[in-house]
Amino acid sequence: MASLLIRNIHTLVFADTACRNTPVRGAEMAQLPCISNAYLLCENDRIAAFGSMDQCPERADEELDAEGGMVFPSWCDSHTHIVFAAPREEEFVDRIRGLSYEEIAARGGGILNSARKLQACSEDELFESAYLRLLEVIGTGTGALEIKSGYGLSLESELKMLRVIRRLKTVSPIPVKATFLGAHAIPSEYKSRREDYIRLLVDEMLPKVAAEGLADYCDVFCDRGFYTVEETDYILKSAAQYGLKAKIHANELDYSGGVQVGVANQAISVDHLEYTGPAEIEALLSGNTLPTLLPGCAFFLGIPFGPARELIEAGLPVVLASDYNPGSSPSGNMPFVVSLACIKMRMLPEEAIVAATLNGACAMELANDYGSIAVGKKANVFITRPMPSVAYLPYAFGTPLIEQRILNGKVF
Ligand code: NIG
Ligand code: FE
Repeated sequence: MASLLIRNIHTLVFADTACRNTPVRGAEMAQLPCISNAYLLCENDRIAAFGSMDQCPERADEELDAEGGMVFPSWCDSHTHIVFAAPREEEFVDRIRGLSYEEIAARGGGILNSARKLQACSEDELFESAYLRLLEVIGTGTGALEIKSGYGLSLESELKMLRVIRRLKTVSPIPVKATFLGAHAIPSEYKSRREDYIRLLVDEMLPKVAAEGLADYCDVFCDRGFYTVEETDYILKSAAQYGLKAKIHANELDYSGGVQVGVANQAISVDHLEYTGPAEIEALLSGNTLPTLLPGCAFFLGIPFGPARELIEAGLPVVLASDYNPGSSPSGNMPFVVSLACIKMRMLPEEAIVAATLNGACAMELANDYGSIAVGKKANVFITRPMPSVAYLPYAFGTPLIEQRILNGKVF
């Protein structure tokens, strides 16, 4: 057995004696249990004990002094697209010059631009660049990650992307969940016969994806100009027959009905929700689907931010994720996502931290093992520089405050 003891922790954040594995909702999100002047003991890859320094064990195989820094549970980023062939900064400049995201997509840019580039890229090249992004997000404190396909848009290229994600799973020090997003856009060659693409997706892609065990979830971009509610319903019901649960893109561009069709199909989460009003909130209250907000996307595209306060005040469990992708959120920096949630969506720091840790773990069905500092959970945590308070982390936006990462009970 190998043990690691961290002493002199100024604040042990989300010290969860209840070992929660369910989402924290509504007003409860503002209650972030913390212990000041604390220690944390890991044994092998799990958390074995924590508490106040008065009760600190004498020794362990390896010892670390947090020197007054704080310890947080690693971020659980439940929505990313980190497998892609190339960045799209030329579209960023087009948007600065005045084009909208939808105008760029309508011209064959956007997701179709990424698909063209990905189709021309080898599996090895895709793996190498995605692996670097995985290391990059681990650097900013991420300790569990979901990754989507959706830049393939053909049988062969969707499988290629999912195989890259499978390789990432095998080498990654953090858990990775894979989501099949063949319904991300309609490929240009199917523009005038979209039902043929949907048939290909349901009759050929889904069976192959399921037979090879390549995906944990199925996603659809249910929004204006992408997939309709009826198409989404059909794809999600077909995926369910293969045991794939839904996690969908909804209401980014309009009140699209995406939230409602997601809830009706018992989706694990509906993500984006920039366009969310009373009807969407009512639908969410009627089921267990988690509302996931992606403030990096709203920030980068200059679209409205999701209504975090209304969701929390309705008693819902908000999730925060990065949406790291080349088109609408080219960053997987979760501390910045937490800052944006506070600054632009008026989430309290405690609410944002819960949303980006335990609630994110729930949105990947990983909360038995991740998302809070609890005895028996995996020891994935990070140590910050000395900070005066928990609120300092979102306050000092863009400041690199994370000094060390512990993954599976070992310094990474
Ligand atoms: O979550 N909205 C759909 N999909 C991605 C963006 C995809 C892209 O532009 O490449 C998103 O924002
Ligand atoms: Fe996305």
